[in-house]
Amino acid sequence: MLTIENLHAGYDKTEVLHGISIDVPKGKVVTLIGSNGAGKTTTMRAVSGMIRPRSGRVTLGGKEITGQDSFRIARAGLAHSPEGRRVFPTLSVADNIRLGAFPRYTRSRKRGDIDADLDKAMEMFPRLIERRDQLAGTLSGGEQQMLAIARALMLNPEVVLLDEPSMGLAPILVEEVFNIIRRLKGEGITMLLVEQFAAAALDVADYGYVLENGRIAVHGSADKLKNDPAVRAAYLGGSH
Ligand SMILES: Nc1ncnc2c1ncn2[C@@H]1O[C@H](COP(=O)(O)OP(=O)(O)OP(=O)(O)O)[C@@H](O)[C@H]1O
Ligand SMILES: [Mg+2]
Repeated sequence: MLTIENLHAGYDKTEVLHGISIDVPKGKVVTLIGSNGAGKTTTMRAVSGMIRPRSGRVTLGGKEITGQDSFRIARAGLAHSPEGRRVFPTLSVADNIRLGAFPRYTRSRKRGDIDADLDKAMEMFPRLIERRDQLAGTLSGGEQQMLAIARALMLNPEVVLLDEPSMGLAPILVEEVFNIIRRLKGEGITMLLVEQFAAAALDVADYGYVLENGRIAVHGSADKLKNDPAVRAAYLGGSH
């Protein structure tokens, strides 16, 4: 569904990604694991059009989207819940979520029932229901994180990129976010997931890639990675 081939990307003169290839098959959850600064967020930005790749090829459903602007990529069906939330602070919670459906309002994506989907997104995150008319800028960090996920889902996407969806959340809410990811997977939603909780990410994922200094060091089924001694030692908190 989403394929990344030999992608090079970076900022100004610095190259961060030195030719990475990732395949996210339809209906699967693929996780990208790596240390701070490895290039996980950069990968997502280069895929969703927040930055322009230097070379390589990205396709969505067989169509090339490499280097297109982010709005066009969203219309093609790729939703990105970015690291650090990025909600619109002076808009209400409900309006922030609706904005995710913008390409559906303009009919550049199939319209469907936007109001029903808004209710569904809210119901997935009950804390947002109570805060429907509150300005997004006044939400707690964790609530903003949930809002960013709900907004991404409103595109009715073919593929969702989730960059650290549990960041800043209290443990009980981290669990809630993983339950939601599991539920979305059950609905057949294709996801590329970056998570600080690598073990939990491998539990929900089908397949994983380990990114080290802008290169894919290892990849394999989630089970294989969970049992790989080097992966365990470096990313899963020891060898036990
Ligand atoms: N806007 C930017 N301008 C310049 N350099 C950047 C920018 N954003 C990230 N970088 C650099 O690119 C490298 C990769 O960063 P990136 O955010 O992709 O890492 P990451 O794997 O997502 O890390 P983390 O786990 O901390 O989120 C880092 O060295 C970082 O300093
Ligand atoms: Mg990051």
